[in-house]
Amino acid sequence: MNKLTRIFVSLGLIAALGGSALTLAAVEDQIRNRIKPTGNVNIAGEQGQQMQQQASGPRGGEEVYADACAACHDSGAAGAPKLGDTGAWSDRISKGKETLYSHAINGYNAMPAKGGCSDCSDKEIENAVDYLVAEGE
Ligand code: HEC
Repeated sequence: MNKLTRIFVSLGLIAALGGSALTLAAVEDQIRNRIKPTGNVNIAGEQGQQMQQQASGPRGGEEVYADACAACHDSGAAGAPKLGDTGAWSDRISKGKETLYSHAINGYNAMPAKGGCSDCSDKEIENAVDYLVAEGE
């Protein structure tokens, strides 16, 4: 082999090796993509809490009430109709549940949207309204 042929051969070898290394890397990427787990698990932080909530379903009315509504509706603060005060609830109940749901979710005069519970789902607020209504009937 003369010098020139040797250079060509080694160039060829380098190209072949380099080429196959590249294809190998690409195949590895494909495999990694194919076997990677689908969903990302986020254990800490807000997302984790949301996932926990989703996993355990919406909280019941009494629990949500105690967390987010009792501060006003137990004491009647700011003119809030008190839990179990049938006189204060009868007119409100006659507006219909859809209206009460919407007022509790979106706010109504001094009643803050969702009672200020920004991480409560609409369904949880509706459960709390059901609870207030059941106690006020
Ligand atoms: C910061 C005090 C406060 C908190 C917390 C609060 N409320 Fe109220 N809520 C009020 C007040 C005040 C009213 C009366 C508003 C009015 O009639 O002008 C009211 C009224 C209501 C009404 C009647 C609305 C209507 O149309 O008559 C519902 C239903 C209600 N609240 C549900 C809830 C629920 C459910 C929660 C908890 C998720 C909650 N509230 C938390 C103050 C509060």
